[in-house]
Amino acid sequence: MTLWEGRLGSSTADEVMAFTSSLHFDRRLAADDLVGTRAHVQGLAHAGILDKEEAAVLLAALARVEEELAGGSFVFAPGDEDIHTALERRVTEIAGEVGAKLHTGRSRNDQVATALRLWTRRELLQVGRGLLELQRALSMRAEEAGEAYLPGYTHLQRAQPVLVSHHLLAHGWALARDLDRMIHTVDRLDVSPLGAGALAGSSLPLVPDFVAAEMGFSRRFENSLDAVSDRDFVAEALFDLALVAVHLSRIGEEMVLWSSEEFGFVMLDDAYATGSSMLPQKKNADVAELARAKAGRLIGNLTGFLAILKGLPLSYNRDLQEDKEPLFDAVDQVSLAIGALTGMVLSATFVFDRMQAAADGPAAAAVDLAEWLVERSMPFRQAHSIVGGLVRDSIERGVPLGELVQAHPALGTEALVLLEPGVAVTRRTTPGGAGPAVVAAQMDRFRHRLEVDAERLSHAYEGWSTTRGDEKTQS
Ligand code: ARG
Repeated sequence: MTLWEGRLGSSTADEVMAFTSSLHFDRRLAADDLVGTRAHVQGLAHAGILDKEEAAVLLAALARVEEELAGGSFVFAPGDEDIHTALERRVTEIAGEVGAKLHTGRSRNDQVATALRLWTRRELLQVGRGLLELQRALSMRAEEAGEAYLPGYTHLQRAQPVLVSHHLLAHGWALARDLDRMIHTVDRLDVSPLGAGALAGSSLPLVPDFVAAEMGFSRRFENSLDAVSDRDFVAEALFDLALVAVHLSRIGEEMVLWSSEEFGFVMLDDAYATGSSMLPQKKNADVAELARAKAGRLIGNLTGFLAILKGLPLSYNRDLQEDKEPLFDAVDQVSLAIGALTGMVLSATFVFDRMQAAADGPAAAAVDLAEWLVERSMPFRQAHSIVGGLVRDSIERGVPLGELVQAHPALGTEALVLLEPGVAVTRRTTPGGAGPAVVAAQMDRFRHRLEVDAERLSHAYEGWSTTRGDEKTQS
């Protein structure tokens, strides 16, 4: 039996059900669909379409369905083509006759958009909490690193020494932007589409503002066609998550490099590394590699979904059912990656000796020599050329740079101190720069930002209907 048997004569072909059914993935929307349906029942009562008793019977049936879902006793029927039809069928079985009134004034088009917004709102903020944890982990490790330094790279060539904490916080700031983006995405998606009906609203006296408030949405849709067509929030969420994945991939790539014997900057904890099935000596950074790889998959989810949206006429089209799998996958993968990377960052051992030795090569202070000359009134281009010449000389003739510096009339013994280990990094004193004095200030600002963002995240939950959350644990 289908919901449209009045219109279509023969029953739906098996291949069609197999092709069009979304139940195997959209059952994750069960809890959110119940929130939407409860609000809809309240809305029907509010509009006088259901009397008090009828509404009570439906709400009791919804409560029972919620229990069945939570307890794992909910039984899906072969004709359930998606979670929305399954829940309506079951509510009707429990409630009896009045069940036939449940879908009054509602379409699956506004229903599914409502449930998916509720789901996305909660899950994105949940990812946001994970991001905050990873940022805290980076901040902790940054603090512990004290004044340790390592080479900063451009083009993957050693460029200038930077504090380890500065490097770790650089990733932290990227994640802070991710979190900010998610909070804004949630703010924009906080619009109830319920009451848009199939596409045009209703002849019944429904009050979309009322149901919006029931579900804790900040506002209702402005245009019913837009309400059932709009999946911008899915595209935005996919972008936000893809960019998180890109950021995680960059952390992952550095962990892969740093844990290699060639770099030797970090030792991964055994719990966050994997071995080889053949080579007994191997300890691999698979977590970091997968974090790097997941970004490809997440970008695919985003671009695949944008391709689905492109050229779709208004309003609802079944194409839109394809919004869910990429979104669910993106949330799942990013959540897993954040969890594993957080553990990896927290448990890794940084090998500061190796980092500092790599950063103490004399050429790392080349720009400091040039700036030293600038402080003594030499134009920078000229200073740059002098020091560049000394570095080339040193390499070509195999003479230590220090000797050449000492022998140079414009530099001399006084400038030699710049080449001493650990000196160059202390000279990065401009705000936001890589030296100890300014990094301490940056660390304070970062910690403050974390506090503010934690507060924003918890605020974002205020006024929401409680949902049990995602039913993904049920098969
Ligand atoms: N499972 C469908 C989806 O996710 C529900 C909406 C179906 N609406 C329709 N008119 N066929 O989009």
